[in-house]
Amino acid sequence: MEIFISKSREETQAFAREYAKTLRAGDVVVLDGEMGAGKTVFAKGVAEGLGIEEEVTSPTYAYMNDYDGRLFHYDCYRIESVAQAEALGLADYFDMGGICLVEWAQNIAPLLPKTVKRVCIKKLGEERREISY
Ligand SMILES: Nc1ncnc2c1ncn2[C@@H]1O[C@H](COP(=O)(O)OP(=O)(O)OP(=O)(O)O)[C@@H](O)[C@H]1O
Ligand SMILES: [Mg+2]
Repeated sequence: MEIFISKSREETQAFAREYAKTLRAGDVVVLDGEMGAGKTVFAKGVAEGLGIEEEVTSPTYAYMNDYDGRLFHYDCYRIESVAQAEALGLADYFDMGGICLVEWAQNIAPLLPKTVKRVCIKKLGEERREISY
């Protein structure tokens, strides 16, 4: 595991833009961290790094936003059961060849592929974050 210390939202986003270059089609990345840690900020940076022009917004109500089949951004915070996630077909996107970023993946743990990458964002202060990856 490597660690990056971010001192601002902009630094997290810039770091994620670079991190995006290490990703390959089909990669599933679990974004861990408490509420407000910066998971969605990180997702915005990844999208930019992938050259996606559409603005990434939190998929809290939709559970998953699809950016041209190239990026699937999940927010499973409100998922109530694995059965619900299955019924919604959320697992179907894991092997469609796009890059998947998953917030609150613990709520759909049994549906995740065997191999995932992990990025963990820890709040150290108002603006300081420890990003381990
Ligand atoms: N170093 C930093 N990196 C990322 N975000 C930061 C940083 N410092 C402050 N922030 C702020 O923290 C908030 C992070 O919000 P974000 O929506 O990305 O969190 P989240 O982890 O996705 O939360 P949720 O679980 O509710 O979806 C933003 O308001 C952002 O401006
Ligand atoms: Mg979020």
